[in-house]
Amino acid sequence: MIYPITIYGDPVLRKIAKPITKDFKDLKDFIKNMFDTMYVSDGVGLAAPQVNKSIRLFVIDASTAASEEPELKDFKKVFINAEILERKGKEWTMNEGCLSVPNIHEDVSRPTFIKIKYQDENFKEHIEEYGGFAARVIQHEYDHIQGTLMTDHLSSLRKRLLSSKLKAISKGKVKTDYRIIIPGKKK
Ligand code: NI
Repeated sequence: MIYPITIYGDPVLRKIAKPITKDFKDLKDFIKNMFDTMYVSDGVGLAAPQVNKSIRLFVIDASTAASEEPELKDFKKVFINAEILERKGKEWTMNEGCLSVPNIHEDVSRPTFIKIKYQDENFKEHIEEYGGFAARVIQHEYDHIQGTLMTDHLSSLRKRLLSSKLKAISKGKVKTDYRIIIPGKKK
């Protein structure tokens, strides 16, 4: 099943998402649907609040970036109840996009390395370190379960320049190739 995507202006994207337990209803299906939704919308990552579920879960498939970073070849993961324990290294800038902020691409600066604790789809706990592109995507998705959006990382000048576009998005006046949920128009 392909879920519609929540967009800028939706309060669910501003909530700190809640941890889940093993017995979360239909978790396997939910994870499958998250990946399917991410693939049809051409995303590298997708967080649960983006499909209107305020839970601490995100999925990433960075294997498409493997031509530049070969170690990403098999990077397809589910992060449940993630907690970033440490961020370190030089901040570097990369142009980011977000399915919830359609048609906006902005340079975002983030630390190079992270250490993260999370549970996988079988609720096995992992503590791992990542750098480069993987660390960037993880930080972007982790932001989503913390109620943060990429636009929050921009300078106040950039934000001001984007304000009318963002306002239009929040009213659903935006074209996307994927289904969206217009804020305030939820059933
Ligand atoms: Ni995003």
